[in-house]
Amino acid sequence: MNRNIIHQHFLERFGGAEGSLYFAPGRINLIGEHTDYNGGFVFPGAVAQGIVAEVRPNGTRWVRAYAVDLRHYCEFDIDDDQGPESVHFRYIYGVARLMMANGVAVGGFDAVYAGDVPQGAGMSSSAALECCFAVALNDLFHGTLAPMQLALIGQATEHQFVGVNCGIMDQFVSMHGRANRLVRLDCRSGEFEYFPWSPADYRLVLVNSCVRHELVGSPYNDRRNSCERVAKQLGIETLRDCTWDMLESVRDSISAEDYRRARFVVGEVERVMKVSEALQRGDYETVGQQMYLTHEGLSKDYEVSCPEIDFLVGEARRLGVTGSRIMGGGFGGCTINLVKNENYDTFVAQVAQTYKAQFGVECQAIPVVIGDGARKL
Ligand code: GLA
Repeated sequence: MNRNIIHQHFLERFGGAEGSLYFAPGRINLIGEHTDYNGGFVFPGAVAQGIVAEVRPNGTRWVRAYAVDLRHYCEFDIDDDQGPESVHFRYIYGVARLMMANGVAVGGFDAVYAGDVPQGAGMSSSAALECCFAVALNDLFHGTLAPMQLALIGQATEHQFVGVNCGIMDQFVSMHGRANRLVRLDCRSGEFEYFPWSPADYRLVLVNSCVRHELVGSPYNDRRNSCERVAKQLGIETLRDCTWDMLESVRDSISAEDYRRARFVVGEVERVMKVSEALQRGDYETVGQQMYLTHEGLSKDYEVSCPEIDFLVGEARRLGVTGSRIMGGGFGGCTINLVKNENYDTFVAQVAQTYKAQFGVECQAIPVVIGDGARKL
């Protein structure tokens, strides 16, 4: 990402002194999908790609922001209760407003920002945007909010200002990520543990189907509602506490669709634990098998895949890839693939060919580099 380009735009639009630079990353998730809002475990890592913003307080109550990638400029009054209409700028407005509600004396500011997280790829470009501004405003307006509080502000922005009832995974790892480490987060207790990620014989690579995944106004919230209905029927807070027997006991009193969705979640919570144990013993074959099982569940039971992604996972299996599955919220975006070094080049080359032949569209391989979380540059 080119900081000079950001700074040139900043100078042209706002002039004067340099602003401060902040960065927040997108993420991958090894396993543990749709478990965060069910109080379960997730296993994400921050990536090298993210959002960089140059930000400077302007002594007014106005925010002036330019998104370089979208070539889109917006101004809004931070005291206005409605905020901007453009969804994109509502992320910034939401973060500013919620930080004010949490006691940070946010004033007006000028900002220019750009990112290299592919949009709609399921790599959490929106969490990167929220966390980047959360860190910036906390620093520039002398807030004392801890990283977890900033992550919660990012999540609440999605709920209250964008309409996606997401879990905490994306914002959590954008704030807490560490280079060459994955993090296993218990989304019920908030406890987390870093796991070194540097397998000698394997690599992670994303394959972007270039089917744009979109969670705003999507069936994402419906999935969450299904889970909450089943938990309510069982008299428990979240599906984290649901055993297989408990699920069977309510099978006749819930819809077949809710049953399938809950079945996925109960299995997925177990799979994260199996993967953690396998990682401790360096057993990547088991990690890969669990990834394929997750994909099957996400595709057939949770129904958040699509033909293009199912094809990519099928190709991965055919080409001897150790593990492959759809990643993130679903409905398009990327697969995450655990590939043995010796299979890597063939896989990337072959899948590009067969995908193009099948759908007439280029897919894009994105090698995974696990990086650090949000920070001032
Ligand atoms: C999106 C949400 C996360 C999580 C994933 C699915 O990325 O923002 O909170 O629910 O989907 O695991």
